[in-house]
Amino acid sequence: MTAVDDQSAANFLIEQKWQDYTEEEHSIWRLLFERQQRLLVGRACDEFLEGLDALGVAADGIPDFRKLSDALDAATGWRIVAVPGLVPDDVFFAFLARRRFPSTCFIRRRDQLDYLQEPDVFHDICGHVPLLMNPVFADYMQAYGEGGLKALGLGHLQHLARLYWYTVEFGLIATRRGLRIYGSGVLSSAGESVYCLEDPRPHRIRFDLRRVMRTRYRIDDFQQTYFVIDDFRQLFDATRPDFAPIYHEIATQPDIEPDGLVRDDRPFNASRSLSAGSHGQKNGLQVVRSPSLGRKRLEDVRQHHNQ
Ligand SMILES: [Fe+2]
Repeated sequence: MTAVDDQSAANFLIEQKWQDYTEEEHSIWRLLFERQQRLLVGRACDEFLEGLDALGVAADGIPDFRKLSDALDAATGWRIVAVPGLVPDDVFFAFLARRRFPSTCFIRRRDQLDYLQEPDVFHDICGHVPLLMNPVFADYMQAYGEGGLKALGLGHLQHLARLYWYTVEFGLIATRRGLRIYGSGVLSSAGESVYCLEDPRPHRIRFDLRRVMRTRYRIDDFQQTYFVIDDFRQLFDATRPDFAPIYHEIATQPDIEPDGLVRDDRPFNASRSLSAGSHGQKNGLQVVRSPSLGRKRLEDVRQHHNQ
């Protein structure tokens, strides 16, 4: 991070003021947490569930960022920093490049449990932070931040934003026990965490960096396409090459629509994706068709760059 980045990033830091949360705010956290915990067993990847356990993010109430950061720092050197909401792209990337995860502090209201335009502390902490306990994913996020700063300089933010969207926010991972979720936008959404695995409508396609970077996305509904990685090492390795020649190459190719398919797509075997249903969690679940919550910074990106 350069001195200029340090200064501009520091301007966005706030205090969480954990002691000021009300009992109502803590009880909304508990409601969301307990609901997601029920849904995510058998749906979230093991790395996420292990991170959640190890961090001690519990149903008690909104976590204190300082305590979480100490546990996170000891594991992977990441820390959580409190920000007021949207931060500019360069600041966001600069935080990630320094292994700092910017989190909002506010929590949604009780009447917004299933619908919220802007991610809140539940999305940021419960959705994003557990995977930062995984060393490979932690490195991927840092590499993404470094790549973001480069992409800004090269004018290819829209392509890199799609990588974030389809991995960090809406990514799926193939495991021996079937398809699992690692994307935070899905992990913090009751409706989409079921839909992405069990609904026959969306495409589930094997991850391919160029394909992902060419694919537009929707922010107003569940995704129409999910990209499936084999493991986090694949994701990290994909971010290693210099993206400049890749940007140059895909700049000559047309974008792909959110629901589009192309000749070289490798579909994920859909039958395996039904394994999550065997846990019986569908019973009594109302799948609410509402937007997911993974759009804080990249919605900003989209607005600026019109996808
Ligand atoms: Fe997010």
